[in-house]
Amino acid sequence: MDSRATVVILAAGLGTRMKSRQAKVLHQAGGRRLIEHTVDTALQIAAPERVFVVVGHQADKVREAVGARGVGFIEQGEQKGTGHAVTSGRAALAHLGGLLVIYYGDCPLIPAEVLHALVKQQSESTDAGTLVSAMLDDPTGYGRVIRDAKGSVQAVVEQRAGTPEQLAIREGNVGIYCFRADAFWKHAGELQPNNPAHEYYLTDMVEVLVRAGHSIGALRAQHPADLLGINNRVELAAADRAFRDRKVRELMLDGVTIQKPDTVSVDAQARIGIDSVIEPFAQILGATVIGENCRIGASSIVRNSTLADDVEVGAFTIVDASRLDSGARVGPYARLRMDAHVEAGAHVGNFVELKKTRLGPGAKAMHLAYLGDAAIGAGVNIGAGTITCNYDGIAKHPTRIGKGAFVGSNSTLVAPVEIGEGAYLGAGSVITDGVPADSLALGRARQVNKEGWARKRREKTHKEPLHNR
Ligand code: UD1
Ligand code: CA
Repeated sequence: MDSRATVVILAAGLGTRMKSRQAKVLHQAGGRRLIEHTVDTALQIAAPERVFVVVGHQADKVREAVGARGVGFIEQGEQKGTGHAVTSGRAALAHLGGLLVIYYGDCPLIPAEVLHALVKQQSESTDAGTLVSAMLDDPTGYGRVIRDAKGSVQAVVEQRAGTPEQLAIREGNVGIYCFRADAFWKHAGELQPNNPAHEYYLTDMVEVLVRAGHSIGALRAQHPADLLGINNRVELAAADRAFRDRKVRELMLDGVTIQKPDTVSVDAQARIGIDSVIEPFAQILGATVIGENCRIGASSIVRNSTLADDVEVGAFTIVDASRLDSGARVGPYARLRMDAHVEAGAHVGNFVELKKTRLGPGAKAMHLAYLGDAAIGAGVNIGAGTITCNYDGIAKHPTRIGKGAFVGSNSTLVAPVEIGEGAYLGAGSVITDGVPADSLALGRARQVNKEGWARKRREKTHKEPLHNR
């Protein structure tokens, strides 16, 4: 028999219980949308041409979220139930034969091993289908698995349709199924919307197939917590936590020190090298790559950035879409964004912002500065309070600072402007014109001292000493 699996993921529903303007499967847990997780799990057991997503509510956005993975889509025009969702794909699916694995797009934690075990059990049995069940402490909301006296599965009864005796059953339908495609499609037309919700329930296929003389198997899940669907934002937060726990555990076992791991968030795609230390409340997001022996300070956020080895990010620092070469040190309280590049051994201190700026090897900007659209050479020293005026209200302009230059504190560099190598800018200068290499530039009024002026003024205007006023 053909035991190749076709996977169908149901994701056409609105997700009413999320109380959101956004379709449920587009919400994120563990740094990715629910539908991305569920599709990626499917791709571990089937090729993209055998994975289909049923879309309906916000179909375009759901297609966009996972389209690049090469999977197929089935349109369910009107959401008439989970059974209807699958039968909407009859034209695309029925001729594929083999096994039909179906689950819901709101179950992002399903481990691929469960799907493997399900397919294996089904292919080794004579049953027409197998479902995954779990003994639940509180099965409220789940379909209940109804068995006969001999223990054979007879039906799945939904919460809304169950009798009190049926609802007392703790064996819940997790919502992952594997059917023999031929049996499924032969009988799928027999589904009826005869329930209080007037929906075509996929779960009724169990009863339909049993009535047709087939048997249905059940695979008891060992860790039901991984399989539960997300219906509201409390469950969404729980799934998010589960992903974060998995990820930090994996990293720790791979040689990364994570302090207070329950406070740290690391997205699934992020990579961190051995002997790096992640301090409490750090967030490492998106496609970030961190090398070996780095330190990410408490409460820092590193997103879509690349850090080489031996990089130190101080506490409360934000590094976004930026690059830090080996030995770079940034923060505490720094902000790097939009392609900032801190080269080897360069330092960025507190309250310094770098936007689209390259800080050359060994250069330093230690305090209170804004450096935007700037190319700063090796070994340059940027004094406290330096500002690149890169925006004239209409366009952005570049600033270039040659290697070894010294930019005095509180300098204002009005771009476009170029400072030559080894030049020296006096503190408090407003620099509007280029500065030749190795020269001193002073762009400020000369200081005037008037001796005795303050004393005379005091004597004239106030007879009493200052501190009595
Ligand atoms: C479903 C099962 C229930 C099971 C539970 C496990 C049915 C009838 N019930 O209930 O037995 O215990 O999951 O989590 O299947 N969807 C569509 N089109 C539709 C309706 C739903 O694509 O017309 C999609 C939704 O987007 C969702 C999934 O199907 O991703 C499940 O729908 P949902 O309403 O969450 O089903 P449950 O009530 O949780
Ligand atoms: Ca659900």
